[in-house]
Amino acid sequence: LDQRLTLNNGYPMPRLGLGVWKTSNTDAAHSVSQAIQHGYRMIDTAKQYGNEPGVGAGIQDGLLKAGLNRKDLFVTTKVLNGDQGYDSTLRAFEASLKQLRLHYVDLYLIHWPVDGKFIDTWRALEELYRNGQVHAIGISNFDSERLTELLDKTAITPMINQMEFNPLNQEKDLRQVMQLAGIQLEAWSPLGGGAALSNPTITKLATKYQRSAAQIILRWDYQHGIITIPKSTHVERIVANSQINDFTLSDEDVAAIDALDQGKRGLWYDDFAWHNPTNPKALTGDVQA
Ligand code: A2P
Repeated sequence: LDQRLTLNNGYPMPRLGLGVWKTSNTDAAHSVSQAIQHGYRMIDTAKQYGNEPGVGAGIQDGLLKAGLNRKDLFVTTKVLNGDQGYDSTLRAFEASLKQLRLHYVDLYLIHWPVDGKFIDTWRALEELYRNGQVHAIGISNFDSERLTELLDKTAITPMINQMEFNPLNQEKDLRQVMQLAGIQLEAWSPLGGGAALSNPTITKLATKYQRSAAQIILRWDYQHGIITIPKSTHVERIVANSQINDFTLSDEDVAAIDALDQGKRGLWYDDFAWHNPTNPKALTGDVQA
């Protein structure tokens, strides 16, 4: 769990962490503390999740109980759509730090590319990075077109693009663009929100390797060099999801999972709404399927 990849700026990032989307403050405090005590060294939250205070409490509790220091942990948070823009992003960052009870975050991401705003937002992230208040900066949910615009118009290449990614949605074209630019893929919803777990190819491999379906998928990500942040509020799942280093998928079985790609993102959200700077729901994060 402390195995790290080196980002394009030389900063090391753990290969697997805990995601806390759709997790209440109370659950987040508990899951985060338990995850740290069970060896997790990376936590991924966002202002939009509304649980930064719970995550902050969980970090304090977990570090104390595990006898660790802040620098042992890698913490990610993200700019809310409604906070995008240069000055408002700088203010939002300070507020997130306070909520998380931290002096810096390891990785700060633009949560969604709000059209007409994400360039100014990125310039604020560059400023925070140059000041040393964040150790790496990146983006989330940027398609090739918006990523290319960002690369054309700004100075610093993102270290991370965090995308919805799972065996049913493998973003092959986008990954090529990212690879050329040296941007690391981080997968949100690596288990497909649970949906990929019941895929027959995955369950067959689970039987073959005597592992859970989740472990098969997370191991497949690992062998592809993809960083993952599986979410669970159940401690036994949190622990099991991290136990992927005692087996190896054969090349043939990796290829069998590669072949599951359907090239479509989850249908539960309105992708257009998230990029729309005039959609009030997208600005607060209140967009439902
Ligand atoms: P729960 O939090 O109740 O454990 P993703 O990270 O792809 O969005 O997937 C998260 C979903 O998958 C959550 O609903 C989570 O539920 C569930 N989940 C996480 N880990 C496992 C696991 N090992 N086995 C089954 N379901 C899991």
